[in-house]
Amino acid sequence: MRFSNIHIPAKRLTACLLGLALMGAASSAVAQGGMTPPEDNRSFVKLDPSIKAMFLAEMRKDLENLDDILTAIAEKKFELAARIAERKMGLAHRRIERMEANGASDEEIAATVKKIRKMGEKVGDMPVKELHRKMSQGMMGVGNFMPDELQGVGQAFHLSAYDIADAARLVAKKPDAANYQKLFSAINDMTTHCRGCHDAYRVR
Ligand code: HEC
Repeated sequence: MRFSNIHIPAKRLTACLLGLALMGAASSAVAQGGMTPPEDNRSFVKLDPSIKAMFLAEMRKDLENLDDILTAIAEKKFELAARIAERKMGLAHRRIERMEANGASDEEIAATVKKIRKMGEKVGDMPVKELHRKMSQGMMGVGNFMPDELQGVGQAFHLSAYDIADAARLVAKKPDAANYQKLFSAINDMTTHCRGCHDAYRVR
């Protein structure tokens, strides 16, 4: 759901403002030494400032994508959920997004996604940078500028998007409890990647 489409009811807005006021009070309590922030053991990943900005923008977009997937599922639009996962969160998603922007047909995009998914099966067999270059075909995503370690985690994250796509299509075919369960697990696998990476790294 796009932010601009979100209507915040007045009551909730009041609650938000109250929350902000409380946060302000809490942060001054921290400043006064009433609380110590939790220990932060995350490793720093050093990125060029422009890459860092691009990376964080992509992160914010991924949160939106995830929300859009959940919205689509809630509205029983399973094919839409599958496409958001596969085309916006999958490997080489920038290349796909560029194709979409250039007016590629749905069949062309589906064929490219299929090809990239096939290449994705090689994750782990090939140096991350080499595989990334092959898949993105010159469309430089933030992954190109990441250290190998982070790029590897990123690839595993992008791969988890395909399990969501497959599970969403399974539910579309047969919306029984077992298939919904698979879909939940697939989404949870992805959020576990979000969480795992956030626990381990920060950028500067
Ligand atoms: C490959 C590692 C990795 C994965 C996977 C990952 N993130 Fe992040 N994310 C980061 C790092 C590193 C930061 C920066 C944290 C910092 O510097 O304090 C970040 C920051 C963010 C931010 C803050 C952006 C900003 O403008 O400050 C959001 C929102 C976010 N991630 C959402 C997500 C969501 C949602 C997912 C999963 C769908 C996800 N991320 C998956 C590594 C990752």
